[in-house]
Amino acid sequence: MARLLLLPGDGIGPEVLAEARAVLDALALPGLETEEAPFGGAAIDASGTPLPDSARAAALAADAVLMGAVGGPKWAGQPFDARPEAGLLALRSAMGVFANLRPAKLFPALTNASTLKPHVVEGLDILFVRELVGGIYFGAPRGISELPSGEREGVNTQRYTESEIARVADTAFTLARARGGHVTSVDKANVMESGLLWREVVTARQRDAFPDVALAHMLADSCAMELVRNPRQFDVILTDNLFGDLLSDLAAMLTGSLGMLPSAALGAEGMPGLYEPIHGSAPDIAGKGIANPCAAVLSLAMALRHSLGHPEAADRVERAVEAALAAGARTPDLGGTISTREMGAAIVAGLQP
Ligand code: IPM
Ligand code: MG
Repeated sequence: MARLLLLPGDGIGPEVLAEARAVLDALALPGLETEEAPFGGAAIDASGTPLPDSARAAALAADAVLMGAVGGPKWAGQPFDARPEAGLLALRSAMGVFANLRPAKLFPALTNASTLKPHVVEGLDILFVRELVGGIYFGAPRGISELPSGEREGVNTQRYTESEIARVADTAFTLARARGGHVTSVDKANVMESGLLWREVVTARQRDAFPDVALAHMLADSCAMELVRNPRQFDVILTDNLFGDLLSDLAAMLTGSLGMLPSAALGAEGMPGLYEPIHGSAPDIAGKGIANPCAAVLSLAMALRHSLGHPEAADRVERAVEAALAAGARTPDLGGTISTREMGAAIVAGLQP
């Protein structure tokens, strides 16, 4: 029996997860149990905390967790540890999911949906491996304090240990072996000590354990430029938590819409994976029924492949999304007019036996 925990969360999260669930129901996989728990702002409203103990326990007991989205203007004025986003960071940390896989792949039907010229993005297939449980998102000291002068100071700390760098680098090299065999490691080694150590450790891991994989280093600012200049030069991009957050949003737009991109966060072998669309809660369109459910559905596919032991079902789901797009199904973010529901139905209709 495999267990999938759904965390719909906030904003468009519940809307897109409902379509992922419809796809899952249509697959009717044997031996798969699903449950649902409150999370994020919805959990703050219900019980005062973004990650209730019951949700944390259910996540750790599951084989995979599929999250919708967290956050929204309603909770934006709260102190950091009482915000929906804090629940997500606490969940990632509790699950130990240090490697965040964010594939930026262009579906052929969407070649014209990108803001970049078709010949620049055609055939684009990049895999980001973002470090997810360290770096400036979690480093101490942090906070806002008052200096003796009475002026306030905000502090965050970027820190990485050698082992934190090595384990995520190993994931990137291993994944690269199964695709183009090329890793670009992205840092700011020219200005940050943590970046210098990052570069040293990644270089050593490649030399010692992955000599068959090609490795290049790139500065993060330069990588941002190269991603819009010539994105097809990249195969696997390995980077830290903050740069990975920024660059994966940028890459998402190369594929036409942030609403298309799934992610998988993986930890140690045998631990549950955390799956999330990379888009956020999109408060501006929440409740309107027009959000693109593709990222959530594709995140479900990644969960089926990496954590739930159903790789064929994952292939079927990905082909169904491709078929729906090829048949012209488009939510407004892709230039179309159909609803979240209709997009979900088009994907279900595209499922082949
Ligand atoms: C993401 C999101 C999150 C992050 C937020 C919601 C905390 O932007 O998954 O990319 O910054 O990691
Ligand atoms: Mg982000």
